[in-house]
Amino acid sequence: MTEQEILENHERFAARTALLRKFGYDSDRANAFILSQAHGLDTQVLEIGSGKGRFLVALLLQGPSVTSVDIDYSEQRFARLNVAYAGLSDRVRFLQADATRLPFRDAGFRTVVSVNALHHFPDWRPLLSELFRLVDPLGTLILADFSEDGYAVLDRLYSAERKVHPRVEYRVDDVCNILTSRGWRIHIAQGECQWVLTATRLQRARRFFYEVRPQKAVPHAHLGPEGSSYGAAVRRQKDSDALSGVLATPLWSMHPSGEVRGISVNHRSLHRPKRRRQYS
Ligand SMILES: C[S@@+](CC[C@H](N)C(=O)[O-])C[C@H]1O[C@@H](n2cnc3c(N)ncnc32)[C@H](O)[C@@H]1O
Repeated sequence: MTEQEILENHERFAARTALLRKFGYDSDRANAFILSQAHGLDTQVLEIGSGKGRFLVALLLQGPSVTSVDIDYSEQRFARLNVAYAGLSDRVRFLQADATRLPFRDAGFRTVVSVNALHHFPDWRPLLSELFRLVDPLGTLILADFSEDGYAVLDRLYSAERKVHPRVEYRVDDVCNILTSRGWRIHIAQGECQWVLTATRLQRARRFFYEVRPQKAVPHAHLGPEGSSYGAAVRRQKDSDALSGVLATPLWSMHPSGEVRGISVNHRSLHRPKRRRQYS
């Protein structure tokens, strides 16, 4: 990556940004809107679909370190150049990979975000399953994509260039239904050209851990639901969920593998600080 490449890329990118704005898509405003819906980012963020780094640069300017994944090396190279132009390369780890099969540990990210990428996936379901695996139980998943107004802008621009904007159609409702059926709480906001979905399991995880976390880490095989105080607490949790109309799915079954995993017992941030004894 030479200085000249970085500058030439920036000029092309700035011209494209201006053209998008002229046709009705202001990417800076769109990015600001998406970030306004994030309600706090973790210091380590996973981004799915680097593309040319349009959102990535805006994200990095908020301060986190980002792992940015894209299946397409040549697209991601534009992102590298744009990030380098912004002087933010030291906080990004780029990975060329299929986002439906990522080499990261379970529950490894508190914030996972994907902007304008869902309509590039032939099927968004395997992606969503993988994201369920990767988001920490206290984490947030942020998905944003074009609305019909946004697609209309892109279609006008592409057709003026005698091209077709590539798009795999899907229903946002279906995405929402899968999330809610897996126990996620979702919030959708509608921007000028985009929708932004923020999904979290925070409340359930908090209640779950505060109510049923054993004093010590217990091997999973010993977490028998019946007859143990642990199991009793889980049943209380289920009952209270049923009463309050919340989906009565225990947290562990949200894991796509269906296994009870170590996301639970000993997570660093789930320990409540020990109360200090006061001496007079
Ligand atoms: C429109 S771009 C994303 C735009 C970018 N987020 C931005 O704000 O500039 C969509 C990206 O998703 C990537 N993509 C499509 N399928 C993918 C997959 N299976 N795994 C990872 N990335 C994928 C494409 O290569 C493309 O670069």
